[in-house]
Amino acid sequence: MTVQRIGVLTGGGDAPGLNAVIRAVVKSACNSGIECIGLEDSFDGLIEPGRSRPLTPRDVTGILRLGGTILGTTNRGNPFAHPIVTSEGTKDYSDRVVEMFHKMGLGALVVIGGDGTLAIAHQFYRLGIPVVGVPKTIDNDIAGTTNCFGFDTAVAFATDAIDRLHTTAEAHKRIMVVEVMGRYAGWIALYSGVGGGADAILIPEIPFDLTALAERLMERDRWGARFSIVVVAEGAFPKGGKLELLEEAQQGHVERLGGIGARVCSALAKVTGKETRSVVLGHLQRGGAPTSFDRVLATRFGAKAVELIKQDDFGTMVASAPPDIVARRLEDVVGKAKTVPPDFDLVLTARALGVTFGD
Ligand code: F6P
Repeated sequence: MTVQRIGVLTGGGDAPGLNAVIRAVVKSACNSGIECIGLEDSFDGLIEPGRSRPLTPRDVTGILRLGGTILGTTNRGNPFAHPIVTSEGTKDYSDRVVEMFHKMGLGALVVIGGDGTLAIAHQFYRLGIPVVGVPKTIDNDIAGTTNCFGFDTAVAFATDAIDRLHTTAEAHKRIMVVEVMGRYAGWIALYSGVGGGADAILIPEIPFDLTALAERLMERDRWGARFSIVVVAEGAFPKGGKLELLEEAQQGHVERLGGIGARVCSALAKVTGKETRSVVLGHLQRGGAPTSFDRVLATRFGAKAVELIKQDDFGTMVASAPPDIVARRLEDVVGKAKTVPPDFDLVLTARALGVTFGD
C-alpha cells in the first residue's frame, strides 16, 4: 500500500446515503492509517483553494443516518466544461484539478456520484489521477451494479405516497396520477408502483397509448373499483410522442424532465370523464434519512472503495453483485445507462396481476 492521503467528494444530485459512504470511507481509511481530505461541492474542492478540510472519524460520527451530504454537491460542476482564458490560451479547469490534486499531496480520489460525475472521474483517471468511483443515484440506472444507494429510500417514500393517495382516491372515486423521478429509466416507477399496488405504471422503456390506458381504467370502474392509481415516471412518453421537459439542456447542465404526470392527468379526465388529480413527488424522493438497506449498501461501498485504494486498483467503480461488492472498470460502465428491460421479471409479474403499462 502506497497511498497515505486520499480526497473524497460528492458530485451530481444528492441521494440518501451519501453521508453513509463518506463516513465509511473516512473510518475505514483512517483505521488503515490513511488520511482523508473532504473536498467541497464536487470538483470545486479541487479548483478553488480553501474548499477542502481534513476529515477524521470524529468529523463523521453521527452522519450515518443523515440525508444530503456534509461535503455539499453540485450538478453544474464539470471542470471539463468551463473554459477559462489564460495567457497560454483558452483552457478548461481540468488542468487546475490535476495540479491541485498533486499540490494537496493526495494519492487517490474517491468520487461518489452518478453517471455524469463518474464520467468526469474517468476523464481524470485518464489524465493520471488514481480514481475509485462509488455509484450514487436514486434513479438506479448506473450500469454494472444491481443497486445504487438512494434508490431504496426513494422507492420507500414513493410507496408511502401511493398508499396515502389510495385512501383519498377511493373516497372520491378519482383517478390519481403520481409522477416520480428516474430520468430515462423507469425503476422508481416500477418498484413503487408494484410496492404501492398501482393500477397503471408508465415508464420510458414502454411508450404508452392513452386510449388503451383509459380503457383499462374504465374497465376497473365497470367491475366496481371506481378509483385508480397511475404511477408515471418523469421520463415516460406516449407512443410516437416525446419527453416532457421543464428546462432544455444548457452548457454543463442536462435537461430537466417533468410535466408528464399533469399531461396524463388532464388527458385521462377528458377521455374517461372522471375526476382526476395529479401530484409530483419531486425532490421529496431525494430528501430525508436513508433506509437501512441504503445505509448498509452505502457503508459497504465506502469500505470497498478504500480496499481498492489499498490494492492500487484504480480506474474502477465499486458495484453491487449480490451477495458481493465487486469492482468494475469505469470504462465499462460510464455512458451506459441501465434501463428496465421490457421483459424484466417485475414487469411480467405486474402484468400477470393486471397492472397496465399503457401499451
Ligand atoms: O438523477 C437524480 C434526479 O433526482 C433525477 O431523478 C431527476 O430528473 C434529477 O435528478 C433532478 O435534478 P435536479 O436536482 O437538478 O432538479
